[in-house]
Amino acid sequence: MTAARPDIAPKQAPEATDFPTGFVWGAATAAYQVEGAAAEDGRTPSIWDTFSRTPGKVRNGDTGDIAADHYHRYRDDVQLMKQLGLKAYRFSISWSRVQPTGRGPAVERGLDFYRRLVDELLEAGITPVATLYHWDLPQELEDAGGWPQRVTTDRFADYAAIMAGALGDRVGMWTTFNEPWCSAFLGYGSGVHAPGRTEAASALRAAHHLNLAHGRAIEVLRGQLPAGAQTSVTLNLHQVRPLTDSAADADAARRIDAVGNRVFTGPMLRGEYPEDLIADTSHIVDWSQLVHDGDLAAISRPVDVLGINYYTPTLVSTPAEGAGDSRNDGHGNSDHSPWPGSEHVAFHLAEGKERTAMNWAIDPNGLYNLLMDVTRDHPGLPLMVTENGAAFDDYVSPEGRVEDPERIEYLHGHLDAVQRAIADGADVRGYFLWSLMDNFEWGYGYSKRFGAVYVDYASQRRIPKASAHWYADVIRRHALPP
Ligand code: NOJ
Repeated sequence: MTAARPDIAPKQAPEATDFPTGFVWGAATAAYQVEGAAAEDGRTPSIWDTFSRTPGKVRNGDTGDIAADHYHRYRDDVQLMKQLGLKAYRFSISWSRVQPTGRGPAVERGLDFYRRLVDELLEAGITPVATLYHWDLPQELEDAGGWPQRVTTDRFADYAAIMAGALGDRVGMWTTFNEPWCSAFLGYGSGVHAPGRTEAASALRAAHHLNLAHGRAIEVLRGQLPAGAQTSVTLNLHQVRPLTDSAADADAARRIDAVGNRVFTGPMLRGEYPEDLIADTSHIVDWSQLVHDGDLAAISRPVDVLGINYYTPTLVSTPAEGAGDSRNDGHGNSDHSPWPGSEHVAFHLAEGKERTAMNWAIDPNGLYNLLMDVTRDHPGLPLMVTENGAAFDDYVSPEGRVEDPERIEYLHGHLDAVQRAIADGADVRGYFLWSLMDNFEWGYGYSKRFGAVYVDYASQRRIPKASAHWYADVIRRHALPP
């Protein structure tokens, strides 16, 4: 089944530029990573506040208490976006800022922040793209069981209704979840993300409930938003490749594709869980109990756009008996697997590739292949690259500049890949650089800088890096530089 997309203008042929007319140039952030103001205006802790306060969970004991102080500096930040020529800004809403206990009435002061932010964006001619959930579940809901519990989907549907009511008149592009794979499998499987649980069954249960919450939110948004509003979900689809052409490595790739990708795209875009996923994991959860009648119809409600986040490909093999190791998979170390049912798959770093500061291999072809694979598997589905970017060890020169040629090269290569995919038939509607500015990189705290804009955390001064100027130039030209 392919998602319908009633409200999007058809792709236009490129006119003397490298990207289609109307291609959206954006940058992205997420609430817990940039806002700070963790205890202001009624906000209560989310699972990330709790997790980051737990010794040993986040590098240097960093927390999002202050982050990039975007909550207080959003006006200046929007002006910066305007100067860079951004056409769209993708941000997320902190659930516990607008509905502190995760239940019941909303807090107006919390909603007002997002109303002001959106008004400021609109005033600057920048399209707001709102994500309802970028990993920060209100702690009270985790205390009640979190995503492994079905009732959390009721809470999410209520929250979606609150936000559609508060911002539906001014936000035209909505995303339900950002990277639900991370919420389910890093949050409840390997435990390297909040809430830090290491329970394979809970991870799979969380995945199903995130899917269901997505579908229920789509229904709520469709019911409340004005005609023409667009809905989406953002997935970090793994570009999985087998290490060799052996049958065993092909099977490793199939397994990781199942529990990394098709666990979401199956129900969302085809209305079914893949049979091989169920077979691989039926010793961990009883899917017939987990999935109720009507769930798949709810989950597969059509989205207008599929958001894709891509950073690096995933290279896998089936190691010799007993040698399996899923720790080296680019998602932080843990003794527990984020791949339930596929624990004996080994992850590899691609040879001969440059690496980012995350030690992720740089491979723009992975993005091209991913966009083409999704286009092949879901023909006609409009796509949006909702995140792409890289961390490097940036520093401010004595002259006060941040030169980041590696990031420029990374962005250039990946935008070139997007352009090639479009030329070869992928319907890619836009690109959002991760990230607008340096921010709290989850388990790595502030040690990793993904921003196009440098943040000096001591003074909160923003310094656009060379890559920000480069990106502004690309946006102005609507094309890559020659
Ligand atoms: C994906 C996540 O959505 C974002 O929050 C994170 O900072 C980037 N990847 C970089 O790891």
